[in-house]
Amino acid sequence: MQKRTMIQAAIALALAGTGGAALAQANVFKIGLILPMTGQQATTGRQIEAAAKLWMAQNGDTVAGKKVQLIVKDDTSLPDVTRRLAQELVVNEKVDVLAGMGITPSALAVAPIATQSKTPLVVMAAATSSITEASPFIVRSSFTLPQASVALADWAPKNGIKSVVTLVSDYGPGIDAEKYFKDRFLFNGGKVPETLRVPLRNPDFAPFLQKVRDLKPDALFVFVPSGAGAAVMKQFGERGMDKAGIKLIGTGDVTDDDQLNDMGDVALGVVTSHHYSTAHPSAANKKFVAEFQKANKNLRPNFMAVGGYDGMRVIYEALKKTGGKGGGEALLGAMKGQIFESPRGPVFIDAQTRDIVQNIYLRKVEKKDGQLWNVEFDVIKDVKDPGKSK
Ligand code: DHB
Repeated sequence: MQKRTMIQAAIALALAGTGGAALAQANVFKIGLILPMTGQQATTGRQIEAAAKLWMAQNGDTVAGKKVQLIVKDDTSLPDVTRRLAQELVVNEKVDVLAGMGITPSALAVAPIATQSKTPLVVMAAATSSITEASPFIVRSSFTLPQASVALADWAPKNGIKSVVTLVSDYGPGIDAEKYFKDRFLFNGGKVPETLRVPLRNPDFAPFLQKVRDLKPDALFVFVPSGAGAAVMKQFGERGMDKAGIKLIGTGDVTDDDQLNDMGDVALGVVTSHHYSTAHPSAANKKFVAEFQKANKNLRPNFMAVGGYDGMRVIYEALKKTGGKGGGEALLGAMKGQIFESPRGPVFIDAQTRDIVQNIYLRKVEKKDGQLWNVEFDVIKDVKDPGKSK
């Protein structure tokens, strides 16, 4: 009799325990943020994590009655690791949303998990056009390379650049940048004597730059991922390419604000097209930059930070709209069609494509107050990803 009471008491206690845990789980909203925090793409992880934390510091961690929990995991930018981490986050942690994705192969590795588990995946960095087509549960807050490249191919021929050699990292976003720049530049009457692709991992730019020197085009168009621009710029200068009369142009990834200030005078005058500059002169951006720098030892937020910050907004708004009731499909529905003012300017999450529609700016590197900035001088408004019209 006594034994039975003890067992009953033990069961009651265990049930109360699980009940409590289940209740706690029900009141928590988990965001699994997978980023490259170490390795070649570590600056992307550092920027996005800092931006996500800034968003939470500014907006609180209770939304629609739920406690928001950010779980940050380091995938070292290896897609097999990204996939394993996403699986663990979905199965063990039961995250409500997956987010991050520093490079295209990581986003593509996680897409089937998002689809199977009906978990929204907010892509905050990776920028190959086709990513949003890899799963109906993907929403993107970064940009696409076709979106960023076309504006430069329209600008260049009007500004004395008639021949261009392209040099891109040999994977999704590089191939997108090469194709969309080249096709538009040829359409505009330009010439592309050579297209060069360099490996993503441990690239050696020297032999490629030598080739460009020999070909002597008016300009070299470059796409390399965030964090790799300084190496290109350094070797471009060391080989005297600028002195030989070859201009450097590219998407804004090459004059990444995370590194720009350390690139030196070789970066002066470089024209790029992109969706975000730390120097974007809006009140919203000035506030964002000041608060980001204050919280991060004066680190400049770059375009990766803005992708992370806006991605958090998209998640918070979806949680609010669904009244905390959640469910992957409901959250996804509430992410589609959002319109808001980002530090980069006005943006729109296209409900059909789940991709971001945004302004693309032409910018030139200038020195102001002893620092280098991507200074915007023209804008193409509300640009949809041209890759989606295929
Ligand atoms: C990707 C990564 C980057 O760092 C970048 O600047 C653009 C695109 C990517 O892998 O998709």
